[in-house]
Amino acid sequence: MHDSRPIIMTVARAETFKYDQVSRYINELIEKGDLKPGDKAPSLRKLSKQLGVSIATITQSYVSLEDKGVLTAKPQSGFYVNTLVNQINDIDKSTTTPGQARRVRFGELFEEVFRNANNPRITPFGTSNPSMEFMPVKSLTRATRSIISRYPQRSMDYLFPPGDRKLREQIAKLYTQTHTRVSANDIVITSGATEALSICLRTVAKRGDIIAVESPTYFAVLRMIEQMGMLAVEIETDPVIGLNLDALEEAFDTMDIKAVMASPNTSNPLGCQMPEDNKRELVNLMAERDIPLIEDDVYGSVYFGDKAPRPAKSYDLNNQVLSCSSFSKTLAPGHRIGWVVAGRYRKKFLQYKQAWSSATSSINQLALAEFLSSGQYERHLVRLRVAMRDQVEKGRYMIARNFPPGTRISNPHGGNVLWVEMPDGCDCIDIFNKALENNIGITPGILFSATRRFRNHLRINCGFPWTEANVNALKTLGQIVGNCRGA
Ligand SMILES: Cc1ncc(COP(=O)(O)O)c(C=O)c1O
Repeated sequence: MHDSRPIIMTVARAETFKYDQVSRYINELIEKGDLKPGDKAPSLRKLSKQLGVSIATITQSYVSLEDKGVLTAKPQSGFYVNTLVNQINDIDKSTTTPGQARRVRFGELFEEVFRNANNPRITPFGTSNPSMEFMPVKSLTRATRSIISRYPQRSMDYLFPPGDRKLREQIAKLYTQTHTRVSANDIVITSGATEALSICLRTVAKRGDIIAVESPTYFAVLRMIEQMGMLAVEIETDPVIGLNLDALEEAFDTMDIKAVMASPNTSNPLGCQMPEDNKRELVNLMAERDIPLIEDDVYGSVYFGDKAPRPAKSYDLNNQVLSCSSFSKTLAPGHRIGWVVAGRYRKKFLQYKQAWSSATSSINQLALAEFLSSGQYERHLVRLRVAMRDQVEKGRYMIARNFPPGTRISNPHGGNVLWVEMPDGCDCIDIFNKALENNIGITPGILFSATRRFRNHLRINCGFPWTEANVNALKTLGQIVGNCRGA
């Protein structure tokens, strides 16, 4: 059982909710095995004394843990650790060996999977963004209105690359929180991270070149490689600590790799996060080999730990990391505002950007600059992180309860998606089609690999509120998976 030593709360930041700290404390006791399934949780009074917070705060925390399925309330008796709590099987370590570089051939599969992406009748487990319910829509609308009325002509005019100065200054300021030296002059505004990533790829590689990617990796990266006629080589990626650096080095030794594309902070779909030392080692390795790293940091600000993870860019003494991000996962994906800090490739990047898409939406750049300079962004991010961690935790418990035995679930460090390994023999395309017949969207696992691995995997978005309809859709999905041949 837990002991009664004074507790130094691991999350002491003023802005984090107190009840959230209590929840983390209980979760830690469970993780360490100090509290076991079926054990009675510490009494409200005892924990209140021990942690120096009010009984109301402890109650609020216990109710929220009950809501997520961690605790169960027994009338007249108190709260108990759910017997299911240790039955969540984390995702297995991937066993990819570097293998060969391959052409990516998805053909029509992407279009088929995303045909229904905007259909409001389909439960959106197939997308990968937090719902707009978690975004400051009213404040953003106010900022946009204010910009249009104060600068009607500028809002409608071209805003050529590198983009609005004030917005770039605000973005540069965000980097100071992670000790990353970036100035407004280093930043180029793009139409979302997608444009930043694709122009980076074009900037550092050409048709026929080999690009190393995580395995599994965000499917749009594979799509870009496919469309540009490049080859992908998949590097083993640990579900907790990300890219395997030995495997990457082995690939460097045996292949002429022209770039690495990776998300060291919260990958999609695994949600893994490279430890800081590994990020530093990765950047050093790339510098030794003189190979550029295209970093996708869209989820960098949606982390679940106590401390903001640093982008790989912050270790980049050689200026060869091209770090891409956007406001799509934190504010408004429809604004299509992203950016890149392209280091030594900035000039070439700008030339491609000017040639291919020229300016990026003026209204949206000006409105985001206004919103960021109002100081509301940081406060919003604090709330968003707590909300996404809750959403994802709840999603894990519900999947554990409703999917067949043998299912494994990722335990992400950030973001809003879960990577689910179904029992052997379950086919993700089959599940995708059956789910769609029930108006449920999911992303099939095979999209996350050039070699069509991950046939028995799904990615599930937890970024939408767990309304009754969404909970029921998840239960139906569990039944569909339960009826598949392998389950
Ligand atoms: C890992 C990752 N990178 C990039 C993007 C694309 O971002 P944007 O909408 O800014 O183009 C997404 C969106 O799903 C993503 O999940």
